[in-house]
Amino acid sequence: MHIQAIAFDAYGTLFDVYSVGALGEKLFPGQGDALAQLWRRKQIEYTQLRTMCSMYKPFWEVTQDALVFVCRQLGLELTIDAQNALMGQYARLDAFPENIEVLKQLRSQGMKLSILSNGTSHMLHSAVDAAGMQGMFNHLMSVETVEKFKTAPEAYQMGPDVFGVPAKNILFVSSNCWDVCCATWFGYTTFWVNRTGAPLEELGVSPHGEGRSLKDVIAFIEQVRN
Ligand code: LAC
Repeated sequence: MHIQAIAFDAYGTLFDVYSVGALGEKLFPGQGDALAQLWRRKQIEYTQLRTMCSMYKPFWEVTQDALVFVCRQLGLELTIDAQNALMGQYARLDAFPENIEVLKQLRSQGMKLSILSNGTSHMLHSAVDAAGMQGMFNHLMSVETVEKFKTAPEAYQMGPDVFGVPAKNILFVSSNCWDVCCATWFGYTTFWVNRTGAPLEELGVSPHGEGRSLKDVIAFIEQVRN
């Protein structure tokens, strides 16, 4: 397998979506963790429903809708100030600590790097800037271009289109098992950053590689090169 480029998922893979839990905990003591977990789950559910029904809406708005729903579900009063604070935090999520070094090392090996995400272009630029990752990526691919969220084939197709190489020559890296499984179906070479030791989805497909942090991507590339 000759890997010519890497496409990273953004949320959960490069940027820690559960880091909003700390602010959630300050605003709603005792509920921060539940808020962060349910918010993420509902956000992804809404992207999938919207794509199935061809009802695309930008990820920023979907994220806000999910927040409003989950606060209602948990019985939390979401004031405009709290909503703005939580959404503002979402625009500047913490990056996982090992990521910058890994990205630098991959670039120094001549690898072309990109993000392929459900996030809007504006959200991706904001997250990259906040994480100090400016200049690390050759492309920031947002599904905004195709108006369908992952796991639609049109969303995954952006990788081969942008790099001009077949999907199997692009390593797709995600911490979301559903994303990495569907990218494998699409034809990418795939790596699952399984940070929490989660079980593999029962979909009859497995990623080509798996590790516990982004650092493990480096060893995987070595392994497939030899
Ligand atoms: C993304 C979400 C799915 O970045 O994590 O596309």
